[in-house]
Amino acid sequence: MEWEWLSRSPEATAALGHRIGERLWPGSFVALVGDLGAGKTALAQGILAGLGVERSGGSPTFPLLWEYRGGRLPVYHWDVYRIRGLWELEELGYEDSFYGDGVCLVEWADKVEALWPPEHLRIDLEPVPEGRRVRLTARGARYEALLEELRHADPGL
Ligand SMILES: Nc1ncnc2c1ncn2[C@@H]1O[C@H](COP(=O)(O)OP(=O)(O)OP(=O)(O)O)[C@@H](O)[C@H]1O
Ligand SMILES: [Mg+2]
Repeated sequence: MEWEWLSRSPEATAALGHRIGERLWPGSFVALVGDLGAGKTALAQGILAGLGVERSGGSPTFPLLWEYRGGRLPVYHWDVYRIRGLWELEELGYEDSFYGDGVCLVEWADKVEALWPPEHLRIDLEPVPEGRRVRLTARGARYEALLEELRHADPGL
């Protein structure tokens, strides 16, 4: 299932993220895809806020991964822009976060698509003259239900 939405400001992107963060569950996986400056981090910050995570509450486990405790769920926030190969994630033990009991957010997720759980939410961000085109793709019943809720919750978001 897919839903396309236009974000007209960084705040609107963060607000969408907040709504997503409020609804995520243990073991959920969100793939953030888009070029430099597309808004992946803006969206991730909104998701963190929606999970009740304090930005200052994070700590870098290693350069590609920040972990946040103290929110509704543990959050693993990856940025794999500088990944040199899938082997690097395998060495770092990505399974604990990709397939664990927390929430896993991955920026530049398309670089590691082979490792995604089959059920996930994919969010593509693309600059357009009005702001950012945001395309959300849900794989799996639970993610599809989440997408349904988002699109009906607030059309004016
Ligand atoms: N509608 C919008 N949504 C999100 N960001 C926007 C929007 N319009 C403009 N911007 C700007 O685009 C930039 C997005 O930066 P952000 O760090 O979130 O991107 P990113 O995809 O994480 O990039 P990187 O791959 O470098 O980490 C910010 O400077 C933000 O102000
Ligand atoms: Mg970023």
